[in-house]
Amino acid sequence: MKNLLEFNNVSYFYQTKESEVNALDNVTFTVEEKSFSTLVGPSGCGKTTILSLTAGLLTPSSGSIILDGKPITKNDGRIGYMFQRDHLFEWRTIWQNIILGLEIQKKHKSAQKLELAENLLKKYDLYNFKNKKPRQLSGGMRQRVALIRTLVLEPALLLLDEPFSALDYQTRLKVCDDVYEIIKSEQKTALLVTHDISEALSMSDKIIILSKRPATVKENMIISFSGGTPLQKREDDNFGNYFEKIWRFLC
Ligand SMILES: Nc1ncnc2c1ncn2[C@@H]1O[C@H](COP(=O)(O)OP(=O)(O)OP(=O)(O)O)[C@@H](O)[C@H]1O
Ligand SMILES: [Mg+2]
Repeated sequence: MKNLLEFNNVSYFYQTKESEVNALDNVTFTVEEKSFSTLVGPSGCGKTTILSLTAGLLTPSSGSIILDGKPITKNDGRIGYMFQRDHLFEWRTIWQNIILGLEIQKKHKSAQKLELAENLLKKYDLYNFKNKKPRQLSGGMRQRVALIRTLVLEPALLLLDEPFSALDYQTRLKVCDDVYEIIKSEQKTALLVTHDISEALSMSDKIIILSKRPATVKENMIISFSGGTPLQKREDDNFGNYFEKIWRFLC
């Protein structure tokens, strides 16, 4: 499998008025094309910093970040970002929210893009809600809308920063399954951040385990189950073994 994303010895320091915060120390890892990779690590270790660097919102203090053979640029348009909160605009309809990114990129008149948006809404059971407002949808549906809004921009890589953590447990399990299905069936490459080891295990082909700040890569763990949805993987005989291994690395 081709490497879509490469972090090569990336270090990052936040400069504040009083001091300098070393967030990342020589972080090296890869994300393979069409795979699902997850970053896990202690609170405040530098996970969001890694995503911000990948999106080109920050520039490495040293080291390099390569996407599809080319260095990441400032606000790199090849990246799609999905956050913890869905950031849907309440005064816009679902359809108007879906095409928001296209409007910003001045692509909202592109017939191909609009057709893609419509098809995604139909495929993932949201078409009947296209004229509704976000508050009329459940938390899970809202996250599907947020994902489709990102997918319409056809990013090479999707970044997901704890996208399920604001949801209650039952909804979270269902939304994990939905988001996983959408990402796999659209053949996207994803890099997820989560605190939840079970969530990481149920979705990932690879888990990158980080140390406490400044983050270094402690372990790259390849995850292999005999297929299935995230919910089914939680029932796999090997799930517990993997869980304990990761938990020990995080202790
Ligand atoms: N703008 C900033 N200026 C100074 N320090 C910052 C800034 N943003 C983050 N930091 C610090 O850098 C470190 C890494 O932050 P980051 O948000 O990447 O961690 P995280 O692993 O995503 O944390 P969490 O698990 O809480 O989401 C933290 O110690 C944080 O306080
Ligand atoms: Mg974070």
